[in-house]
Amino acid sequence: MKSPRHSNKNSLVALYAHYHSEAAVSQYCDAHYGPDKFGVSNFSREIVQLCATVLEGKPQRKALDLGCAVGRTSFELATHFDQVSGIDFSSRFIDIAQRIQKRGKFCYQLPEEGDIISDHEVHLANHNLAETASKVTFSQGNARYLETSFCDYDLVLAANLIDRCPEPRKFLASIYQRLVLGGLLVIASPYNWLEHYTPKKQWLGGYFRAGSPVTSLEELGKKLSKHFTMIGEPQEVEFVIRETARTFHHNISQVTLWRRIR
Ligand SMILES: C[S@@+](CC[C@H](N)C(=O)[O-])C[C@H]1O[C@@H](n2cnc3c(N)ncnc32)[C@H](O)[C@@H]1O
Repeated sequence: MKSPRHSNKNSLVALYAHYHSEAAVSQYCDAHYGPDKFGVSNFSREIVQLCATVLEGKPQRKALDLGCAVGRTSFELATHFDQVSGIDFSSRFIDIAQRIQKRGKFCYQLPEEGDIISDHEVHLANHNLAETASKVTFSQGNARYLETSFCDYDLVLAANLIDRCPEPRKFLASIYQRLVLGGLLVIASPYNWLEHYTPKKQWLGGYFRAGSPVTSLEELGKKLSKHFTMIGEPQEVEFVIRETARTFHHNISQVTLWRRIR
């Protein structure tokens, strides 16, 4: 019998609990819409900029942002694409993204120290995202089990998602079905594998096989090579998550771009 600690159901419960919490709402509202920190530019803006350089001269009809959280990257994609679908497992995040879209603004709180909190407001117009925001459709869903209607995308972005998936290999094996031939798959991840979210036997990399280290990048290549070819070299995009006024997490996400060839 499977140990409950390692079951996929438990990973989903952990995911649900974390990404519905007050702490996660504060952290992602701030990471997506708050000021830059320690000279690190906004991750959503940077990654969409990186995609835009590869997409020049290519069709930019439909984009899919998997694990969109509170929506900033989807809104950034809408400045380039005709239609954007933003999907997240957390109904709380989706509700916030939809409220920002509808009202053009949203209030959130940040922990300062101990019981002290501060109030903040997001304005889409301040980020030049208000005019194109209506091109986005947000919905709650699981990236692994999307309805078949989520298909024919020119771009699929999975930003900081695969190391939060209970079954990243299965996700990667089927993701080609969402893209048109020639479409672009963008995977960004700090490969921060944690058993809390991904049972160890499902980790893509970060372990030893027959005494040799297995990296997530190598395994990504193996998993995707049936349907994709990698474009260029992996790149690094940083992001900072603020926990309190004086505690921050500085992450480096490795970004790989893949063109669907079969
Ligand atoms: C680390 S956050 C990254 C958020 C955003 N992409 C970014 O880079 O700022 C991971 C997000 O993926 C969502 N998520 C995790 N597993 C998912 C799944 N199977 N399907 C859809 N969303 C998922 C979480 O709810 C969370 O919003």
